[in-house]
Amino acid sequence: MPQDAWVDPDTAKRLCTLSRECGRQLGLLISRRGEIQNVIVGDAHQIFIPELGRTRGAKSRFRGLRLVLTHLRGEGITKDNLTDLSLLRLDAVVALQADSNGQPGALEMAYLLPPTNDGGPMWEVEARQSIHGWDTNFLTWIQDLETQFNTVLSGAKKDGRERAVLIGVATRGKKEAQLSIAELERLAHTAGLQVVDRVLQGRSRPDPRRFVGKGKLQDALLRCMHLGAEVLIFDGELTPSQLRNIATDTELKVLDRTQLILDIFSIRAKTREGKLQVELAQLRYRKPRLAIMSTAMSRLTGGIGGRGPGETKLEINRRRSDERLKRVETQLAKLGKDRALRRQRRKRIGLPLISIVGYTNAGKSTLLNRMTRSTVDAEDKLFATLDPTSRRMRFPRDREVILTDTVGFIRALPKELIQAFRSTLEEVVEADLLLHVIDSTSSEANAQFDAVEKVLKDLGVADTPQIIVLNKIDSLNEEERIEAQMLFSGFACSALSGEGLVPLMSAIESSLFVDPPAHELTPDLEQAL
Ligand code: GTP
Repeated sequence: MPQDAWVDPDTAKRLCTLSRECGRQLGLLISRRGEIQNVIVGDAHQIFIPELGRTRGAKSRFRGLRLVLTHLRGEGITKDNLTDLSLLRLDAVVALQADSNGQPGALEMAYLLPPTNDGGPMWEVEARQSIHGWDTNFLTWIQDLETQFNTVLSGAKKDGRERAVLIGVATRGKKEAQLSIAELERLAHTAGLQVVDRVLQGRSRPDPRRFVGKGKLQDALLRCMHLGAEVLIFDGELTPSQLRNIATDTELKVLDRTQLILDIFSIRAKTREGKLQVELAQLRYRKPRLAIMSTAMSRLTGGIGGRGPGETKLEINRRRSDERLKRVETQLAKLGKDRALRRQRRKRIGLPLISIVGYTNAGKSTLLNRMTRSTVDAEDKLFATLDPTSRRMRFPRDREVILTDTVGFIRALPKELIQAFRSTLEEVVEADLLLHVIDSTSSEANAQFDAVEKVLKDLGVADTPQIIVLNKIDSLNEEERIEAQMLFSGFACSALSGEGLVPLMSAIESSLFVDPPAHELTPDLEQAL
């Protein structure tokens, strides 16, 4: 075909004549050089485009192929045509009406539009009465369109973060699903991704094949294409077979909630033990999924979702990964023993142990800092603290305790992580007292409290004495403070400003020591508070 014609009249005529003769739709996939790459024979209603393989690199917006097809029943561009246009990133789709004499009649053409911030349309459909006199130069036109896409997307991508679309199912009502997806968004943000859209589907349970229904997944993929997203994140844990099915449908990077959390943990881990624990969790999560990851899904490794602790590349070879798993388990067992010894030593000296627990970002590290005047990382990001930090805290009359900050909890904390962090979480198991910190400014304080209680129950520490700390009250007005205190019977305070910490310290002291607390504070402690 001539390079610059959308479709030349001779080709259009032959296609329509043949299509009428055999009573089937016919399609051509034409490259930018004018070569006909595929001839597709459909039935009277539709054609199926064969597997086209990967695109020419993720960077180019379009596949460099346009589809010219015949329609026999006067139908214009169909929904299927638009889906093909979008998901296959075709340059354009042209639907020619083959009239009863086998001549090309009216036609419609469709092409993708660059994304807009106000959720504008994804495509444009234009109609023409005839193939004759259609003299727009195709090559110049597609280059212009490509430039428009590049301008919009490179502007949006200025900060260099990968763009992600989130997808979830509302099995326990819309509100719960929205809260959960909002949390997933924070996780994505913490992992360095930019969330550009969220897709929710109401259903009683996740679809066993693709997590969401096929149509919904297609909608989400269309959104990704339109918004230039490279990552699709599922709000749940995908089974290996769901992962396989989804990866067959798309070339995008596919992540689930667990992978995202593991990824954040792997960036955050600092100590040797922390790093090994995360690696163990990652290796266990990957074990049943390795076959998928090492073949068609090699794109799933690398970058987010494939990051090992300290930027180590995670092993995708099954044998080597098994060996590594054993080695990590052995090393962790040894470190666990060391930790147990340290705990024993602590016990011998008779220092009571307090563990600070709470939902991620509740202010645990800030509270530890304030009470012990140390500087532990406190950041407005999820899971800023990963490795447990222990500090001594001195009460009046020379009483001392050890205060430990634990990993932040979260709803649906992956089981691989709980298992891998077993030895760290043993600090919680061994504690004489738990300080359960709640972010009283969060609209989800209740749900977060329940999520933490559930993890505590799983750890078998539901009976350990607990003091509830309603943190961040400096950000609440009087009315909100009263409301929060009615909801939780705890100590209202602000780890940031120090307000309310004196009564809290007294409560800790009387809970740990039989003697009544000394009301006069040592100068040291007073200054700290
Ligand atoms: P993880 O390590 O993710 O589990 O977080 P964390 O619970 O240790 O929370 P962290 O101490 O890192 O604090 C999270 C954010 O909350 C930080 O931006 C703190 O500055 C802020 N924050 C902590 N305590 C208070 C408080 O009393 N008042 C206010 N306004 N902000 C607080």
